[in-house]
Amino acid sequence: MQVIHTLADLRAVLAGSTKTALVPTMGNLHEGHLALLREAALHGFPVVATIFVNRLQFLPHEDFDQYPRTLERDCQLLEGAGCDIVFAPGESELYPEPQTFKVTPPAALGDLLEGEFRPGFFTGVCTVVMKLFQCVQPAVAVFGQKDYQQLMVIKAMARQFALPVEIVGASTVRAGDGLALSSRNGYLSQDERAEATALARALRAIAAALREGARDVAAIEATQKAELDARGWKTDYLTVRRRVDLLPPTPDDLAAKTPLVALAASRLGRTRLIDNLEIEL
Ligand code: PAF
Repeated sequence: MQVIHTLADLRAVLAGSTKTALVPTMGNLHEGHLALLREAALHGFPVVATIFVNRLQFLPHEDFDQYPRTLERDCQLLEGAGCDIVFAPGESELYPEPQTFKVTPPAALGDLLEGEFRPGFFTGVCTVVMKLFQCVQPAVAVFGQKDYQQLMVIKAMARQFALPVEIVGASTVRAGDGLALSSRNGYLSQDERAEATALARALRAIAAALREGARDVAAIEATQKAELDARGWKTDYLTVRRRVDLLPPTPDDLAAKTPLVALAASRLGRTRLIDNLEIEL
C-alpha cells in the first residue's frame, strides 16, 4: 500500500491505472469504514482511500480542531483491509489558496435536516468531494448509508454534473447493541456509550409503529423525541421522510406504501450522533 501526501505524487502513481474505486474518509477509521473499503474492492479496481479532515464542512463551534487525526493507525487498518493507495493531503495541499469556488446543493435537498442544523455543511462536503473526484478521477466512489442525506446529495451532484463516477452506497455497520458505528462515538463517556443505543431504538420504534398500522406520523415522531429528550438527549430532528426526496410523507404516500426512511440527529452530552432506518410499510 502506498501512502501519498501530494497531488503531484498521486497523479504520478495513478497515471498507469485505468480505473480506481475511491473511499473518501476523514480518518479515525473504524469497522464501518473498512466495510466501505471491502465494498469498493468488490468492483475489481485498485482501491484508493482518502484521509482529509475537511475544514469547509465544520461550523465554527464544531469539532474540527478536536477531530482525531490518527493517520498511522488508519494506515495500518487500511493496509489490513486491502487498500492499495492512501491519499492523505495536508490542508495546504488540498486548499493551497482559499477555496472560493464551491459546490452548493439545491436548497430543496441541502437545506433541510442536516443542512438546517449545520448550515453550509453540504456545500463543504460537495466541494471537497468534487475536488477529491478531480484528484483521484475514480470510476466508483463508495459512501456510507449512515450519512443518508450526504449520500443522496453526492448522488445528485454526480448526476447533475454528469461526473464519470458511479456512486455506491454501503450499508451502515452497527455495534452488537445497535449503535451505528461513527468516528464520533469515541467522544462518548462510558455511560453515554451505554445510553447511545437509544437513538437506534427510537428509529426502530418509529418503524415498528408504522409497520403495525399507525398513520399519525407527527404523533409517532413526537412520542419518540419526547422519550429521547426525557433521557437527556437534545434532539435536532427525529423524523420520517420519503426516501425519494426527504420530504414528509403525505397521507397518500402512506396509503401507497411509498418507501420511507426515519432519520435522526441528536446530541448526547457534547456528542452529536446521527442515524437512519429505511422503513417498508
Ligand atoms: O462522510 C465523511 O466522512 C465526509 O463527509 C467525507 C465524505 C469524507 C467528505 O469530507
